[in-house]
Amino acid sequence: MMDCTDRHGRYFLRLLSKNVMLYTEMVATKSAIHGDRKKILSFNEIEKPLGLQVGGSDKKELSLVSKIAEDLGYDEININLGCPSKKVQKNKFGACLIKEPDLVAECINEMVNSCKIPVSAKTRIGFDDIEDFNYLNSFIKKISDSGCKIIILHARKAILKGLSPKENLKVPKLNYPMVYEIKKENNNLEIIINGGITDCFQIKDHLKKCDGVMIGRAIYQNPYFLADIENEIFDNTDVPTRSEITEKLVEYVKDEVKKGTRVNQIMRHTVGLYHGKTGANKWRRYLSDNMMARDSDFQKVHHIMEIAQNNEKANQTIS
Ligand SMILES: Cc1cc2nc3c(=O)[nH]c(=O)nc-3n(C[C@H](O)[C@H](O)[C@H](O)COP(=O)(O)O)c2cc1C
Repeated sequence: MMDCTDRHGRYFLRLLSKNVMLYTEMVATKSAIHGDRKKILSFNEIEKPLGLQVGGSDKKELSLVSKIAEDLGYDEININLGCPSKKVQKNKFGACLIKEPDLVAECINEMVNSCKIPVSAKTRIGFDDIEDFNYLNSFIKKISDSGCKIIILHARKAILKGLSPKENLKVPKLNYPMVYEIKKENNNLEIIINGGITDCFQIKDHLKKCDGVMIGRAIYQNPYFLADIENEIFDNTDVPTRSEITEKLVEYVKDEVKKGTRVNQIMRHTVGLYHGKTGANKWRRYLSDNMMARDSDFQKVHHIMEIAQNNEKANQTIS
């Protein structure tokens, strides 16, 4: 997710879950090729398994970036076929490519032939006036024939004109049955369902009909949901508490600050750590008063441990 799953956000999320697959935010092929590669593509080994998501429709560029992703140690390369933003459409990538199955198939073919890591695609179930099983199914068949066997389906269509990206995440109605039908019809493919999933009951239900579940906003707003997933879906009984997470993160901040990272670049991802819990306001307020400024002082990070420990005690008392 743009501005959310950068390397610091992913490091934090990985402290909460060992088992989930993490993805980068979308990186345009041109930035990956010509930009500051260390800044844009580097990651910490702890973040793995990690997929690189790219945006593009130039097959030579996509091929090159797939090779780069493999060489850097990414576990998967994912092509974005779902972003409806105007800027992305202007550059001819994202959701507008659902209209061009042949071009997408050629791109995927080049990607698959350039690397040995899995090539996956993230797309929507339709666009504008088209929300049609046959259209989607033939699109999926085309891209799977060119070698993409993992498809993440955001269960709503994209409206390419007239809606902002934000509206495109809530105005088009969710249509989970369409995703289930795609899985039924393409049992050989790994179909991952995405869109509006917010609790473990829903996850368990989707897993009866699909191979996996992708979650975006619910995790970013309430990162500890990942620990619940770790526990309920992966049967991991050893999930860390919020204050244990904070302790590890403070160590990470210490190391990163030495390398020139600003405190706020890391701590901004933790705003929702106490979501729905006693102490959430105190946590958020402390972060916003002390750690959101560009020049936030590292010394103030230590105090956050005290808040975390007090919050932990307060929540134990309640439960
Ligand atoms: C702030 C924000 C940034 C996003 N950035 C990306 C992105 O870079 N690539 C992508 O495939 N989807 C992106 N999305 C869409 C999400 O990955 C996801 O498909 C969508 O939010 C629906 O899932 P959810 O209801 O679990 O959030 C973004 C969504 C938001 C809210």
